[in-house]
Amino acid sequence: MRFVVLGAGRIGLAHVNTLMHQDGVDDLFIADLDPARAEAAAASVPGASFGSIDSAFASNPDGIVIAAPTAVHAELILRSVRAGIPTFCEKPLAESLSSTLAVVEEVERHDVAVQIGFQRRFDAGYAEARRALAAGEIGELRRMHLVTCDPTPPPAEYVPVSGGLYRDCHIHDFDILRWVTGREVASVFATGRNRGADYFAAAGDIDESATILTLDDGTLVTLQGSRYNGAGYDVRMELAGTIGNRTVGLDERMPLTSTEPGITFPTGSPWPTFQDRFADAYSAELAAFVAVAAGTASSRCTPRDALEALYIAEAASLSRVQGRVVRLDEVQASALVEARA
Ligand SMILES: NC(=O)c1ccc[n+]([C@@H]2O[C@H](COP(=O)([O-])OP(=O)(O)OC[C@H]3O[C@@H](n4cnc5c(N)ncnc54)[C@H](O)[C@@H]3O)[C@@H](O)[C@H]2O)c1
Repeated sequence: MRFVVLGAGRIGLAHVNTLMHQDGVDDLFIADLDPARAEAAAASVPGASFGSIDSAFASNPDGIVIAAPTAVHAELILRSVRAGIPTFCEKPLAESLSSTLAVVEEVERHDVAVQIGFQRRFDAGYAEARRALAAGEIGELRRMHLVTCDPTPPPAEYVPVSGGLYRDCHIHDFDILRWVTGREVASVFATGRNRGADYFAAAGDIDESATILTLDDGTLVTLQGSRYNGAGYDVRMELAGTIGNRTVGLDERMPLTSTEPGITFPTGSPWPTFQDRFADAYSAELAAFVAVAAGTASSRCTPRDALEALYIAEAASLSRVQGRVVRLDEVQASALVEARA
């Protein structure tokens, strides 16, 4: 099968390397707005070729992987879907809620599979948490706590185009919260601070966050995030219920230090980056996409899933700025009004 990768930056390069190792993939074509990047990426992988974005679409691929910046996701997804090509696109689906809604509505009118890059759905730990909850092994879910912390902040030029901490980073938490519990978020209260570099505040963004989410069955969820977690890359999810609990990310590389006498756990070195922490999940999500492109499986993370996660990110962003609880139905109703205007 022939696959095209659009965008040979940070995540695009990783996807190129992962795709080349998937069964069934024997031809890769790489295109980037910067041709030198596409050429360098193609040179790093045996059998890969490169060319312009137009020639990528004209190369009759079995699937397209979009790893370009968020600002061009909508136009590239629609171009690919209109050409009838199975499409994988990195999160988030589009820059704004209205363009996300427009893309979802158009994609759903075509009979073309689209998978969005929420790789945590393909991580063994989250999958086990979902299974255990559904099997009743936790009992009735009463509380959850999620953490997503980066050891170092992104570069200054990335922050203004990132969409902010909720749309860029916590959107992964919002997606996986829905997927693990099978429930929807009813309301959000979010607060945050800029305690690090001034470029976060200059972009209207924060580098520390604390959020309370209420699910549609009343379960209370807390979420914390940081762009300055000196101990290392920290991604966890705790679920506790009337019978038991489960924790995702409780392993030897978790960047926590116990103060209890004699306790040395965890003993491993912390995950340095998200690429290391989720290497297996990225590989599994692209293996799943190869099956989608081959027509042997359906998408396990649809554009509508991406829209639902974005509603939560929008509600959190609004809540933080306005200092109030924001209901999801308020955000959904105003998005519809805006989209119809
Ligand atoms: N799922 C994840 O964990 C994860 C992690 C990192 C980034 N991302 C997402 O991946 C996307 C890319 O992020 P990145 O950090 O790799 O960015 P990046 O800036 O490192 O790379 C983007 C590349 O796309 C190229 N490009 C720009 N416009 C293009 C176009 N129209 N067609 C083809 N190529 C184009 C750029 O020249 C650059 O080489 C973002 O949407 C980001 O949110 C997801």
